[in-house]
This record gives sequence, structure tokens and C-alpha cells, in this order.
Amino acid sequence: MSTTCHNILLLVFVLVLVAEEAVATIYQDCGSQAMVSEFSITNCDVPPCLVPRPSTYHVNITFTPESSSQELETVILANIGGSDFPWPGPDGCTLLEGDSCPLVPGETYKYRAVMPVLAEYPAVSAVVTWKLRDEKGVKHVCAMLPITLI
Ligand SMILES: *[C@@H]1O[C@H](CO)[C@@H](O)[C@H](O)[C@H]1NC(C)=O
Repeated sequence: MSTTCHNILLLVFVLVLVAEEAVATIYQDCGSQAMVSEFSITNCDVPPCLVPRPSTYHVNITFTPESSSQELETVILANIGGSDFPWPGPDGCTLLEGDSCPLVPGETYKYRAVMPVLAEYPAVSAVVTWKLRDEKGVKHVCAMLPITLI
């Protein structure tokens, strides 16, 4: 094998490894004010996410806010068949790994939420909007993606 060919194979191998290491979920941004450097949901790289009932899902978001805030609320909306259903979301401040509120602009935060998916939830398809919003109404993070409970 020529050296060039060998190098190309090595490069392809490394790229595949990198692609498999990076857990990221494709989502639609709905106006994030912060720089979002990671958004990943358990077992879902390409939506619609097929979510078994019961199960436990992680929603991991790494973001760098552009403005300060005292509070961070998780606002979840499930759109089912054209109607919006608000979903209770956990307090975001307590979910910042190794950190807490207030948010300082330019600092990077790792938000780690765990969502239990209960057996009694109906098997529906929904477009979920996941927002991290502060007390001034600023949407630091806004991500939308379709999910299907199975
Ligand atoms: C989310 O973060 C937690 C804690 O760091 C980690 O255990 C889990 O594997 C992550 N999951 C995803 C989907 O990124």
C-alpha cells in the first residue's frame, strides 16, 4: 500500500471515530440568544427521537450566554397535532454542572437535565420546544425537535 493511500485510510478512520464520539442531536434553533456549543439527547442523533416508555432521558446543553441573568427557567412546550401543551420543566439554575446562577455573560455553562418518561404517557408524536429563559424573558437557549413516544 502506498503511503498516501495509507494516510487517507488513517484520516477516514480518525474522522469516523470523531463522528461517533460526538454525541449531538440535530435540532432547529428557535432564537437562542446564547452561543450553543452542545445539544444532545440520549439515543437521538437524528430526530424524530423515538422515545420508549418508560425510559429516562438526558438533555445536555452547553451554552455561553451573552447577557447576565439571576434565574434560569426550563420552559417546555409539546405541540401535539397543532395544539401547544406546556410541560413542567425543572429549575435550570440547579442543573448547571459545577455552577449556579447568576449567569455571567461569556462564561460557558453545562446544563444537564434528566427527564423521566413514564409508562402512562400516551404514544404520541410531538414537536418539543425546549427553552432556557431568564427572569427578563431572554431566551438563552431555544431548541425545537420532533419526538415520538413509542
Ligand atoms: C449528559 O451528561 C451526563 C452527565 O455529564 C452524561 O452522563 C450523559 O451521558 C450525557 N448524555 C448525553 C446524551 O449527552
